[in-house]
Amino acid sequence: MKIDLYEKLWMWAAVVIVAVFLTSIGLTTLGQAGQPPSHVETIDPTALRTDPRFANPGVTIHHDGSATVVIVASMFAFQPGEIRVPVGRHVTFRISSPDVIHGFQIVGTNGNAMIVPGYVSEFTTEFRRAGEYLIVCNEFCGLGHHVMYATLIVDEHPRVDAAGGGAP
Ligand code: CUA
Repeated sequence: MKIDLYEKLWMWAAVVIVAVFLTSIGLTTLGQAGQPPSHVETIDPTALRTDPRFANPGVTIHHDGSATVVIVASMFAFQPGEIRVPVGRHVTFRISSPDVIHGFQIVGTNGNAMIVPGYVSEFTTEFRRAGEYLIVCNEFCGLGHHVMYATLIVDEHPRVDAAGGGAP
């Protein structure tokens, strides 16, 4: 079969593009801080606030300086409403919803997850710049959707406090 030279070039270009995409998906899946928020950890949404995993939302700073942030996203607030995490350390977010689907987007960073009732959304990221970041809900969740936000403070010297993450 005779294939035109340009046709052949385009076919090879398409193969290369697909290979590049698959490689980048593979590398970010295996690498640090690049995983999709889909760990398929389930939770009973009607008992979210009494479940030990989510009963005390807030920031926990670990011995190695990394942090875990537990957040409840509900109509129409994030709890806690102010989150303080260390700069340049791994920060793992664990978020769930007791009511409807919400979004969790840390504006200007790669922190972004869909919060689905019945599931724990988890992702790990790192903030290289200290400062104040806006967290918004980016899934329409009802009449108060537009007022659903929180503040992330990336701090050089975070408070070591197992339970507190600031007032809701
Ligand atoms: Cu929660 Cu929109």
